[in-house]
Amino acid sequence: MEYVIGLDLGTSGLKALVVNKAGNVVDHATATYPLSAPYSGFSEQNPTDWLKAAKKVIGELAVRNQAMRKNVVGISISGQMHSLVLLDEKKQPLRPAILWNDVRTTAQCQKISQLAGKQVLATTKNRALEGFTLPKLLWVKENEPEVWRQAATFLLPKDYLGYWFTGSIQTDYSDAAGTLLLDVRKQAWDWQLAELFEIPRKIFPKLVQSMSCIGTIRAELAEELGLSPKVKVFAGGADNACAALGAGIITTEIGLVSIGTSGVFLAFEGKEQQNYQGKLHYFNHVVPDCYYSMGVTLAAGQSLSWFKNAIAPAESFVEFLQGIAEIPAGSEGLLFSPYIMGERTPYFDSQIRGSFIGMDVRHTKAHFIRAVLEGITFSLKDSQMIMADSAHKKLRKIVSVGGGAKNQEWLQIQADILNREIVTLETEQGPGLGAAMLAAVGSNWFDTLQECVTHFVRYDHSYLPNSQNTEKYQLYYALYKDLYMQTSSLSHRLQKLVK
Ligand code: XUL
Repeated sequence: MEYVIGLDLGTSGLKALVVNKAGNVVDHATATYPLSAPYSGFSEQNPTDWLKAAKKVIGELAVRNQAMRKNVVGISISGQMHSLVLLDEKKQPLRPAILWNDVRTTAQCQKISQLAGKQVLATTKNRALEGFTLPKLLWVKENEPEVWRQAATFLLPKDYLGYWFTGSIQTDYSDAAGTLLLDVRKQAWDWQLAELFEIPRKIFPKLVQSMSCIGTIRAELAEELGLSPKVKVFAGGADNACAALGAGIITTEIGLVSIGTSGVFLAFEGKEQQNYQGKLHYFNHVVPDCYYSMGVTLAAGQSLSWFKNAIAPAESFVEFLQGIAEIPAGSEGLLFSPYIMGERTPYFDSQIRGSFIGMDVRHTKAHFIRAVLEGITFSLKDSQMIMADSAHKKLRKIVSVGGGAKNQEWLQIQADILNREIVTLETEQGPGLGAAMLAAVGSNWFDTLQECVTHFVRYDHSYLPNSQNTEKYQLYYALYKDLYMQTSSLSHRLQKLVK
């Protein structure tokens, strides 16, 4: 029996899945690593911590599965997007990685938009945001000239792991798309942009497909990890693209709602050219020559955990959510906007803040909790509406993953607000499964990713919209949309007071 390993290099930890040919996860292991915030708005990680975590999880799996370890044939990697890894001539990290959730680069984003806003949108299909890689490169160039002088290569996190495994340097199109330096249609670096911002050509990694074999595992590392030296390593992809693949989002009919700390509404775009004018992210998929679009709610699960910590820190989430089924759709006139961290889609406004509106003496704790869940889901509907309005996208069903898929009532709220069938996955493994699928196809278990999806992705429960609730939610959603306009100026003025 052969196996593949799918690795998911996330923001808080690294997860490894061992998967067999039937698509079953036979074992998994996770290791965490710290995140450092030396100054407000900074978010950094030490790339060598990722290597230590990989060594730990693979070593642990090998010890636990003596019979399996010599039968692993392929490894692939999913990784947090946008985060900048800078290496010197000797391929050593020059500084800690600057992560996707680091917001120090507002000035660099303004500069990019002023100098090349139109071109960036035309070729990279995205607008300049603090999280993306180009503003981070500019920040290092402007603020750490000595580091910049020594920079020989930049990489995305999963590529540093790929280098550690094989000694080979590259990135794949799905991760390159998050740098703001890729011409996403031509699938080539945009040298004009590189020249304009004086990013030397020599520091760009070469571009490959996500399923490309980037080499075999280094012999000494194979020995150390207890794996066969014949294991092939495949490039892998951006975590959102891998999560989409792992949830079977390779057809335009099925969308994805993923609620973790942040929330994502994602749709497959196939080979078609869509132009969302930067209202949504538009990136290369891990499926060759295909694309996906995506809207992001910055504080999705975070809004719920923030609220729970504020009013019932001792309760578990199960206890906390117990009473919401008794509260009618719309929480009897209580609306919540989840902008506690600012908002990405559709407002790209870091200064907006959340609100409860319509508070009434009848409202109980359960009303507030339901309103929070509804507000998060309305925010995801904003992205669904951009897709429907700009691209006439008609999703038949939506796969719900992450924390939002753990509560049945919230799944029903998603079906009612998004007005689509919501389905869950039989066993949810996150982006690591998508990475394992890239290794499975790379290892010739299947001819195509489509074939792999039919073997690996199994849907479980289904939630259908309740027409009465859907009608009610349409009225509430119209008010929710007004909430931003009505509160933004107040929010911005309040933000100035707390600075
Ligand atoms: C996507 C984004 C995050 C990271 C998290 O644009 O910033 O979802 O990919 O790892």
